Amino acid sequence: MKSKVAVIGAGFVGAMVGQRIVEKNMADVVLVDVAEGIPQGKALDIAQSAAVEGFDARIEGTNDFSEIQDSSIVVVTAGFPRAPGMTREDLARKNADVITSVTRNIARFAPDAVMIVVTNPLDVMTHVAWKQSGFPPERVFGMGGVLDEARFKYFLSRALNVSPRDIETLVLGSHGETMVPLASRTTVKGTPVSTILSKEDFRLIVEKTRQGGAEIVNLLKSGSAWHAPSAAVTAMVEAVLGDTRRMMSAAAYLDGHYGIRNIHIGVPVIVGAGGIEEVCELTLDDDEAAELREAADTAREMVKQLETASNA
Ligand code: 2OP
Repeated sequence: MKSKVAVIGAGFVGAMVGQRIVEKNMADVVLVDVAEGIPQGKALDIAQSAAVEGFDARIEGTNDFSEIQDSSIVVVTAGFPRAPGMTREDLARKNADVITSVTRNIARFAPDAVMIVVTNPLDVMTHVAWKQSGFPPERVFGMGGVLDEARFKYFLSRALNVSPRDIETLVLGSHGETMVPLASRTTVKGTPVSTILSKEDFRLIVEKTRQGGAEIVNLLKSGSAWHAPSAAVTAMVEAVLGDTRRMMSAAAYLDGHYGIRNIHIGVPVIVGAGGIEEVCELTLDDDEAAELREAADTAREMVKQLETASNA
């Protein structure tokens, strides 16, 4: 029997995740959204490409949460996208309510699933989802680092005129302003980038990567990116379904790792059938470790503000 993946939110990211999963025949997909007709219409459209694209995985759209039953993975894309000029705090307030109600339904109808959170602000929403779900930490993580690394590799590949596939790197921290791209782990087939790119060029590329999502928001004027985000989510879904134990950067719950506690933030993890099979603790230099702690503190502060607002 094929596995089943539920995708919550039938916006651009959600629909494209569904499309990528069925096109690769990885699993059947149920696309869920509160907007009547939207998940059904998008799923039907994708399903009708099966004969041409050559897949037999099924995709259905629904407004009924109970149809996520038996999903081994639930991808959460529901929420408002960041609009130009919107702060992460504004977005957090709006999306925390969405995540809370979605997560309660997931806990009710798919209590054994692995949850992959995509809604922004990513690290904070992943933490909210984890708390509301009551799931063990290894079964709730956020997709941020895989996308940030893909963007970083793309910008580096253009500057160095090599394929993005030959660049290795790690991006930790938040999926946002406190992102921590690791210069010390960035190589072209093992050659440190620091030996082939000037410090200033590297700094500019790091900055471009930090602004990677915002640049697209500003260009589109309405909505945010979905092609690269959906590709990154699909890679994580593939790692869970295939129990591949790939090392990927994910917003993971830290319980003393890197000296950080009780928050979700981007770190390298091993991804397999159980979700996060292992949090990898790398040796960081002092600056990198300080930046990671700053990212965690910023996320923790935002969680605190949300909790204060909801208790007020
Ligand atoms: C991005 O970085 C909005 O998280 C999305 O493009």
